[in-house]
Amino acid sequence: MVSRPRRITSVPRFARIAAVFALLVLAPTACGGGGGHGSRGGAGLRDPYFPKAGNGGYDVTHYGLRLSYDPGPRRLTGTATITARATQDLSALNLDLKGLTVRKVTVEGEAARWKRAGQELTVRPSRALEEGETFAVTVHYSGAPKTLTDPDDSKEGWLRTADGAVALGEPAGSMTWFPGNHHPRDKAAYDITVTVPEGLRAVSNGELTAEHTERGRTTFAWHTAEPMASYLATVAIGAYEIHRSTTGGGLPVYTAVDPDQAEASRAVLARLPEVMDWAGTTFGPYPFSSVGAVVDRPDDAGYALETQTRPFFPGAPDLDTLVHELAHQWYGDSVTPRTWRDMWLNEGFATYAEWLWQEDHGGDTAQETFDALYAGDYFDTEEDDRALWAFPPARPASAAHLSDPPVYWRGAMVLHKIRQTVGDDLFHDILKGWAAAHRHGTASTGDFTAYVERQAPDEDFGRIWADWLYGEGRPKRP
Ligand code: TRP
Ligand code: ZN
Repeated sequence: MVSRPRRITSVPRFARIAAVFALLVLAPTACGGGGGHGSRGGAGLRDPYFPKAGNGGYDVTHYGLRLSYDPGPRRLTGTATITARATQDLSALNLDLKGLTVRKVTVEGEAARWKRAGQELTVRPSRALEEGETFAVTVHYSGAPKTLTDPDDSKEGWLRTADGAVALGEPAGSMTWFPGNHHPRDKAAYDITVTVPEGLRAVSNGELTAEHTERGRTTFAWHTAEPMASYLATVAIGAYEIHRSTTGGGLPVYTAVDPDQAEASRAVLARLPEVMDWAGTTFGPYPFSSVGAVVDRPDDAGYALETQTRPFFPGAPDLDTLVHELAHQWYGDSVTPRTWRDMWLNEGFATYAEWLWQEDHGGDTAQETFDALYAGDYFDTEEDDRALWAFPPARPASAAHLSDPPVYWRGAMVLHKIRQTVGDDLFHDILKGWAAAHRHGTASTGDFTAYVERQAPDEDFGRIWADWLYGEGRPKRP
């Protein structure tokens, strides 16, 4: 029997054309690449789907975020210290920030001029920065953070819960709660410190390094040493039940669960260490220093997200969803897409991980799942079965379609075609080797196809790439 997919119900919005045209017209204001005195960093990294996301001219190494939040008035006060290296001479540089009020900006401790236009915060330091120079920008800000509506109509950003908030950032929501270089290409280390009213807890990525209460407010300090894309950063605030344990391999596990979800979550979260041990065997060494989960109920969002080390679930997850979000820690979080067009490298792999888990635990084989999908016999409706062939996984139709079925299931089918070609042993080596080759980095679809070809130089993958990865419509043969 073929298990029912889960994400299809959260994709009710195939239509809706993104405002890509408007984004393109507003694209970068960079004055060429080359540096020279007076040069400005670009406002946008020209992502094919989110051209304004991220900024040129510098590379962030560390974010130090000091946040304070009051759920009642929904008020966030923040100080972001962004340490970066200039990749060109910079008379001005841009950060992405949406909503909130900027109070003050300094560069290397000196007051800087700044202005805002849409999501672009342009900072002009009192003296120009030189190529190669490491510098710190500090932004003081406050306000009620926004919820964003994605091109696909789902909600992200700073989401309200019954007693707190959860920040979800894929693909663009992180700019609603801190200024930064918000494109997956620029990964950095993080220290996130959050102060909340006593009685609530603040959970974030990485490891909890300090916690103290003073005058009715509790501060939690979280540390992420490994590179993290900003869309994977999270803060969750609530009266959580906390559970700490370790996996068989000795990895610390920290879960935070909304009390209303605690009973329903207990059995599945108890299996998290087992899933991690299986994933370590299947995908290779885990790339981070801790793991865990957050379960809470935001008002607007009903999807899970692979927030780094601490995946988020909008209610007690089922086991497949847990496997999916934990697999993303290797594929997406450690090996991060170079642009949003490479999204299938996240979702195809995480979906294939579910198939492998099923196969290894007495469920359908990946071949059976593949066959059911190809036969149009997988989803609940014919319309959903057809949606699988709407566009090629490596060329999503627009930003509105990044989370559509072709990216997930047809992406997984590409991996299965590779497995059919190279056999099980080499396929498993490729899964591990790909995660190792780009560990803590970013990678594109072209990097992936080149990697596969290097691992199996005697095979011809031309038809798989042409028909399954880049080709329109349903390929002629399964
Ligand atoms: N990445 C999430 C998952 O685990 C789903 C998701 C949330 C998503 N927001 C998105 C996918 C934006 C694409 C674009 O499946
Ligand atoms: Zn996913």
